[in-house]
Amino acid sequence: MAKETALVTGGGIGIGRATCLALAGAGYRVIVTDVLGEESAEVVGAIKLAGGEAEFLALDVTDTTNANNVIASVEKSHGAIDVIISNAGIAKKTPLASLTDEEWDETHEVDLKGMMRVIRAAVPAMREKKKGAIVCHASIAGTVYGWDEHVPYSAAKGGVAGLVRGLAAELAKDGIRVNGIAPGIVRSAQTLDEHHSLGQAGLDAFEPKIPLGRVGRPEDIADVAVFLVSDAARYVTGQIIVVDGGLTIGL
Ligand SMILES: NC(=O)c1ccc[n+]([C@@H]2O[C@H](COP(=O)([O-])OP(=O)(O)OC[C@H]3O[C@@H](n4cnc5c(N)ncnc54)[C@H](O)[C@@H]3O)[C@@H](O)[C@H]2O)c1
Repeated sequence: MAKETALVTGGGIGIGRATCLALAGAGYRVIVTDVLGEESAEVVGAIKLAGGEAEFLALDVTDTTNANNVIASVEKSHGAIDVIISNAGIAKKTPLASLTDEEWDETHEVDLKGMMRVIRAAVPAMREKKKGAIVCHASIAGTVYGWDEHVPYSAAKGGVAGLVRGLAAELAKDGIRVNGIAPGIVRSAQTLDEHHSLGQAGLDAFEPKIPLGRVGRPEDIADVAVFLVSDAARYVTGQIIVVDGGLTIGL
């Protein structure tokens, strides 16, 4: 059987990287996209070394022309995209007292509009094929909690939940499922950032509050994404799955 094509945004590091590897392990041809060329090339190399198929395409999700061109190029080579993982995201500390319009827009351009841009470009071919599965990464920040001094992030991630539900309702008749994942606290470059996020000490402090006893690993999110795009989740659409080790249900 021909390989299905999965495109991941922000696939060079962290949760995106783990998702690229997991998708390749599940038999997908993986289109690794990111603004990080070197890191993404490493991911492509790792997939090929393991016998999988992958390629890198530079994609800044804030750039509509770039997004349209990348999707067109993938479709030219491989036909309609079967799976999209909208993973690219930024999290910046932006206290309300000093929050600028530019900071608000920057986060929304990447974390919310960036998802729409890529999905919008890929959906026409998916619709024609009457098939597709999309996963967008929200966060427990914005969908369950608010994150102190991160209003744009919380708002954008809450918006991702709305994006998922709206798209799911609109695309169900075309055989396209759309779901979201709200990760809890996952060790990555994002959460290890001392200024903009928790840093190592903050991650350590969180650990005792997590019922399953540890901070998440990128693979914990990747495996759920692979499930959600698989046929095993064929009757699931419009849902935001919280993957947080039980953090939000407490002890
Ligand atoms: N790590 C966590 O605890 C956590 C929790 C909740 C949600 N999330 C979400 O999961 C996703 C992945 O997070 P992560 O922890 O792996 O983050 P990360 O910072 O490790 O990786 C983010 C990726 O997005 C890419 N990116 C940033 N701006 C981009 C742009 N303009 N265009 C294309 N790519 C861009 C980066 O280059 C990088 O590859 C994000 O959407 C994040 O908000 C993470």
